[in-house]
Amino acid sequence: MNFVNEDVITLSRISITNLLQEIGPEEVRTEIIAGLNSDPKYISSKYFYNTKGSLLFEEITRLEEYYPTRTEKGILKQIAPGLMKQYGTYEIIELGPGDHSKISILLSAAAEMNLPSMLYLPLDISQPAIRNSAEELVSTFPNLNVEGYAVDFISQFGPVQRERPTMICFFGSTIGNFEWDASLELLQNISRQMKKGDLLLLGMDMVKPQQVLYDAYNDAGGVTEAFNKNILNTVNELIRSDFKPDDFDHLAFYNESSSRIEMHLVANRDLTVHSPHFSEDILLKEGEAIHTENAYKYSTGNILEIVKATGLQLKHTHTDERGWFAVTEFLKL
Ligand code: AVI
Repeated sequence: MNFVNEDVITLSRISITNLLQEIGPEEVRTEIIAGLNSDPKYISSKYFYNTKGSLLFEEITRLEEYYPTRTEKGILKQIAPGLMKQYGTYEIIELGPGDHSKISILLSAAAEMNLPSMLYLPLDISQPAIRNSAEELVSTFPNLNVEGYAVDFISQFGPVQRERPTMICFFGSTIGNFEWDASLELLQNISRQMKKGDLLLLGMDMVKPQQVLYDAYNDAGGVTEAFNKNILNTVNELIRSDFKPDDFDHLAFYNESSSRIEMHLVANRDLTVHSPHFSEDILLKEGEAIHTENAYKYSTGNILEIVKATGLQLKHTHTDERGWFAVTEFLKL
């Protein structure tokens, strides 16, 4: 994880404010150790994204087998001109912008309309990631201003609420990495902060043939395997443990009854793991798994449940021709 130390970064047409409360290392350690001591063992998927993990994830998004990124971008390219015609004057907030390639599709469509100015507000846990994206975006779009916030948007959405009409973008089916109740809570929180006329654009990966799902998380080149195993490097950095990633096998499968991909790391021999922060060594038997991620896949029924839980109006569900991915427009009434 990238920890942040500057309060505000100001560059030409860019400001980045750090609203992260200090997440103490003690809190992080306690959370990781609790997961390793529970039965079954787990590590939160947020620990995938150290510097190496973020690069591996970007590599995943370009894999032949990993259809979600490509498919969502295809949808965005189709809908961007119409969306920007309607909402081009809105301020655009994006939650977890990643490599900014998706927002660039919307900003390009807006740029074609010669709007006098545009304001983009990326919200991300990593201040350096926001800065890199912001610098590239302002050099591509001459009338763009970027007002970024380093926040944990799960708990800190409130401080960046706006006066002007706003479009909130939450792409990539990142919502699918939350448990269903937690995802509804987050969306309810977002809805509470929205004003009448604001729009939420939400990207969701849909239920589809199981082989397609399986292949997307078991690519032939082993990038997802490396991404999964790398979580142990983050854990080693954070709690000074001695996990050896190669003592584990990558396991990813579709759990049909829960409509989710599950990722696990399975010990390929009996193991003892040490850390100065453990009260006792952690023991794993050969075959024992550490659960590292769930990725929920959605149905139209789920979308209607989101409407019911948030009170937002479902304006449009945009999908690709196979219905593999959905970008939904939710309007605040
Ligand atoms: C970030 N998130 C939406 C990805 C997903 O598909 O759930 C993370 C990922 N895990 C394995 N591959 C990609």
